[in-house]
Amino acid sequence: MTFKKNILCIGAGYVGGPTMAVIAWKCPEYRVTVVDIDPEKIERWQSDNLPIFEPGLLDVVRKCRSRNLFFSTKIPEEIEKADIIFVSVNTPTKTFGEGKDYAADLQYWEKTAYEILKYSKSDKIVVEKSTLPVRTAETLEKIFKANNQKNINIEVVSNPEFLAEGTAIRDLLEADRVLIGSHNTPSGQQAAEEIADIYRHWMSEERIIFTSIWSSELSKLVANAFLAQRISSINAIAALCEKTEANVQEIARAVGSDSRIGDKFLNASVGFGGSCFQKDILNLVYICRQYGLEEVADYWEGVLRINNYQKERFYKMIVREMFSTLVDKKIAVFGFAFKANTGDTRESPAIYICKKLLEEKAVLAITDPKALENARKDLAGIDRNVSFVEDPYTAVAEAQAIVVLTEWPEFRSLDYHRIYSLMKKPAFIFDGRNLLNQEELRQIGFNVFAIGKKPLRAI
Ligand code: UDX
Ligand code: UDX
Repeated sequence: MTFKKNILCIGAGYVGGPTMAVIAWKCPEYRVTVVDIDPEKIERWQSDNLPIFEPGLLDVVRKCRSRNLFFSTKIPEEIEKADIIFVSVNTPTKTFGEGKDYAADLQYWEKTAYEILKYSKSDKIVVEKSTLPVRTAETLEKIFKANNQKNINIEVVSNPEFLAEGTAIRDLLEADRVLIGSHNTPSGQQAAEEIADIYRHWMSEERIIFTSIWSSELSKLVANAFLAQRISSINAIAALCEKTEANVQEIARAVGSDSRIGDKFLNASVGFGGSCFQKDILNLVYICRQYGLEEVADYWEGVLRINNYQKERFYKMIVREMFSTLVDKKIAVFGFAFKANTGDTRESPAIYICKKLLEEKAVLAITDPKALENARKDLAGIDRNVSFVEDPYTAVAEAQAIVVLTEWPEFRSLDYHRIYSLMKKPAFIFDGRNLLNQEELRQIGFNVFAIGKKPLRAI
């Protein structure tokens, strides 16, 4: 079968994999290939044991795999064949040198740019899918122009991804918007149209937003900063609620019903995690400082300060309420993923909290429906007093406390009478997600502490 166009994606991760699966499904006349430097990952994409857990993803992959969706490690030949190249390699926070702990580490990006240049024999559109500092496209263009002995045109377009893990397929199919940034030149606009044509297969025209390339790059950072800011705002208020007997969920409802504010992303929690929010805000802060905008940088850094404060304050509450010592006390940890419906644990608040509890010499039994494999990796080397168990009832046996760190719905429907009977007394629950019915738990006999609420003590 001959395809109308060859689309390539470099980077088969949380963003590249689901995005390309949906594009392949919705655009059967395009050949979509996803490549990665990690052969093991590619092998898993070729099997039913996908490298990431994402509801609905396997169904989509199965619909188009070997039809028009392919996974490969043959990066050079796939670059050569491609008309459009999406780049979704990771851009972690720098851990060394200038900008350490703030700036985005662009080494994989730059390496990928040189590879595209090396193996291209015809014109290409290169699409920035990864989250990048504003003006990255300029660097790419300089690299392409300075090395263009072959006289081919490589047009750079920005098309950031807004999907959230756990709802990636729905977010892709029913996106609030598709953002396409390009240069205001004929070839830039033509490239933007070609990218828009992909999304037009399932998105209506009014949801496709065209901007300059710089606005598009920066919008992605700003969107994540705004979302994270809302969580830090409600978490800051949660601390005040705990002092004043106001209830943070009632406040979220009262405040969020103002349509100017909106009711989403107002769940107070033990803190936000995930691969994006912290990294992108650090990057934003770094960029502001580079331009001498200290006040702006400080403002956004405050979002991260509150997030760290929230995690710290939660673990300190556990220590304080459990009579100021956790030595040899068994604690069941409910959830390790950074949010429900994913196995991803990157920047999960659970990592910080569990490390702190272990420093206090507690004994942990961690349970999570999807994230145990990653939890093991995250705690490798400090897991002498940790067990990883599938069954929550096994986790709570002889435990003195339950600490809820991920809002998995299955934790809500457990039999807490049975759980109470299996635990040592006094039994504590620290609900870091406001997931459980706290009043019911107190009636069973638990001492219940939740974010932004008055403590419910049974003793
Ligand atoms: C994405 C974006 O790329 C990142 O910028 C954004 O902020 C978060 O989402 P994600 O898909 O979550 O990252 O990252 P990850 O799951 O780590 O996937 C990146 C993939 O790129 C990995 O599979 C890695 O092996 C691959 N990679 C990395 C390459 O194929 N080539 C490289 O040179 C580097
Ligand atoms: C986020 C953005 O939502 C997405 O648009 C972007 O493309 C990538 O980054 P993701 O990190 O996958 O997506 O998940 P998200 O649902 O945004 O949750 C991030 C963190 O915030 C999680 O730890 C979550 O538990 C926490 N959160 C979210 C809260 O604590 N309270 C809320 O009200 C919402």
